Amino acid sequence: MNYSSLSKSEQKDLLTSLQKEYETIKACGLALDLSRGKPGADQLDACMDLLNALDANSDPHAENGFDCRNYGLVDGIPEAKKLFADLFGLREDEIFVGGNASLNLMFDTLARAMLFGVLGSERPWGKEPVVKFLCPAPGYDRHFRVSQTLGMELVTVPMTPQGPDMDVVEELVKDPAVKGIWCCPKYSNPDGITYSDETVKRLAEMKTGAKDFRIMWDNAYAVHDLYPDKKDQLADIFALADAAGNRDRIFYFASTSKISFPGAGVAIFAASKANLAQILPYISAQTIGYDKLNMLRHVRYYKTAENILKHMELLATYLRPKFEIVLSTLDRELGNTGCAHWTKPNGGYFVSLFVKEGCAKRTYELCKAAGVKLTDVGATYPYGKDPHDSNIRIAPSYPSREDLQKAMNVLTLCVRIAVLETMVKE
Ligand SMILES: Cc1ncc(COP(=O)(O)O)c(C=O)c1O
Repeated sequence: MNYSSLSKSEQKDLLTSLQKEYETIKACGLALDLSRGKPGADQLDACMDLLNALDANSDPHAENGFDCRNYGLVDGIPEAKKLFADLFGLREDEIFVGGNASLNLMFDTLARAMLFGVLGSERPWGKEPVVKFLCPAPGYDRHFRVSQTLGMELVTVPMTPQGPDMDVVEELVKDPAVKGIWCCPKYSNPDGITYSDETVKRLAEMKTGAKDFRIMWDNAYAVHDLYPDKKDQLADIFALADAAGNRDRIFYFASTSKISFPGAGVAIFAASKANLAQILPYISAQTIGYDKLNMLRHVRYYKTAENILKHMELLATYLRPKFEIVLSTLDRELGNTGCAHWTKPNGGYFVSLFVKEGCAKRTYELCKAAGVKLTDVGATYPYGKDPHDSNIRIAPSYPSREDLQKAMNVLTLCVRIAVLETMVKE
């Protein structure tokens, strides 16, 4: 029943009975967490054999004879380049493998741009009076934090079910102070949507005021399908940019953080050869080489891109029931109430819940007082401010199924209370 179709007194009665239910739950002293987008222990257990792929008896040499125990090969070992080029559909000579986290590579990329500029810059971005960066929102808070930390001005772009609103983007990029855009193009954080072919094409082709404009293409969930029969397909941004003469526009990132071990995986960066030629001297000043033994370990364990995809199918068997708990509870408890709507992703790590405008913070507080931690409300928007106070990011992966079910029961109860509180006041 849609709550707005109830009379005021019916709304008040319902609110009173839900508040009673809430007080009972509150007294249980729960301590549950829906905020962390990290793999559950069951997923990590399924990766443990990776640690046996390289030991004291293993040949420590890369296929080109390089001794991976030693300094060198700043852009990664050739077999790791091949493996990840195959997996992500990239060119081996445009891929850089290094470090344990793609976020680190993204931060370094923009820090370098601020200090030295990118290929084609007239001056370091940091010497411009202002650098603006487009932030499709809801989005990944850490993307926004990178830009904010480096002193850029964050410009919000609304997300649509096809990706960032391209009419808005095309208008904004006419401003030469707009130097780039953050994109999580497949199973986006937090909406779980995949950019349409049309969106990718427009991003690749659009005319920009800044001739050194860059797309931060963070394909963090490239192979993170939940359902074998429902896999989203993402258009090839490099091919489309190439066709438009904009290959240099793309900075591509990915990692094995949610394939093997977050924090102990392998990160990759891909860009045109001309971009890499501008960037590599700076990286060489920063390090003599990344952890090649870890690259070797990943290559020896997975061997082929097909094996990684098989491994992802196994991980999906752990994630799928958790997403199903989230979606079925939302359907059952909020389905016809008019209190909220939400996304139903085919992959990735999140479900995006949109509660009635003005009710997200109150939902967060009610959940907190009942022992359920949510991602900070507002975190999915630049500067931590959701203009509609509506979006809540749900991360199903980390809690056990039992805890997840309990947490979802509390969350949906709190949404109904928060919405009814505003309705009885209206
Ligand atoms: C969109 C997105 N990019 C990057 C990351 C972090 O990746 P990494 O561990 O490679 O730094 C995350 C983690 O949640 C993410 O959601």
